[in-house]
Amino acid sequence: MNIDELATESVPEGGELPKVINKELMSNPDNFYKMAFEFQQIMMIYESAIKQIETKLDILNKENKVSGRRNPIETVKSRIKSPQSIASKLEKKKLPVTFDSMVNNLQDIAGVRVICPYISDIYSVRDMLLKQPDITLLEEKDYIKQPKDSGYRSLHVVIEIPVYLSESTHNVKVEIQLRTIAMDFWASLEHELRYKTNTKVPESVRRELFRVAETIAMTDREMEEIAIELQNLD
Ligand code: GTP
Ligand code: MG
Repeated sequence: MNIDELATESVPEGGELPKVINKELMSNPDNFYKMAFEFQQIMMIYESAIKQIETKLDILNKENKVSGRRNPIETVKSRIKSPQSIASKLEKKKLPVTFDSMVNNLQDIAGVRVICPYISDIYSVRDMLLKQPDITLLEEKDYIKQPKDSGYRSLHVVIEIPVYLSESTHNVKVEIQLRTIAMDFWASLEHELRYKTNTKVPESVRRELFRVAETIAMTDREMEEIAIELQNLD
């Protein structure tokens, strides 16, 4: 995604200004330009961090290809958090809605999702990334070993990576979510269901979704066993 797309994303359908931008401040053209410029600068740095991670993942895939090995990565999806989501997350956490606050308090402004064929690939990709000297691990949450109450599974890592500009270096946080195709299937549909439903999801439906997540996890493990069996035949 580029900054232009980000700009269109930042204007909600109702034409309302994102909360991160104070209307009074914006009525002064000087402030308007200053804030818009600063926001673009910050977002450009997050975009660059995402690009670096994407390149690293691409190189790992290419290396596997030329070595005649199976690809451990099925798809990579990246996104920059929209100004609306940034503002509402800060408000929800009762934190100041400022640029400094968003940079210091939010770990998922830059997000990369890595979708792998098998569960073991998730840990291989994680290890391959964390081995690289410019990547620092800040936080890891293993929702595969300990799924969320909803049934959600994925491995979340928050890393820091330096972005070099002409006159400055910025250590940028990126949240990487690693999951299998099956985990992604569940998370995408569950997210859509929750998003589309205006009312609170009833307990019976939540139990049903949890049960489906368990079935999917079992299938993931079975597919992995089949893959290992086939590998041993080679
Ligand atoms: P945040 O303050 O929102 O970051 O909460 P957290 O740090 O406790 O949660 P975490 O960072 O572990 O997970 C946040 C992200 O994981 C969400 O933005 C989703 O992408 C994903 N996620 C977590 N739980 C669920 C879930 O139950 N269903 C789905 N579909 N996605 C989830
Ligand atoms: Mg989080």
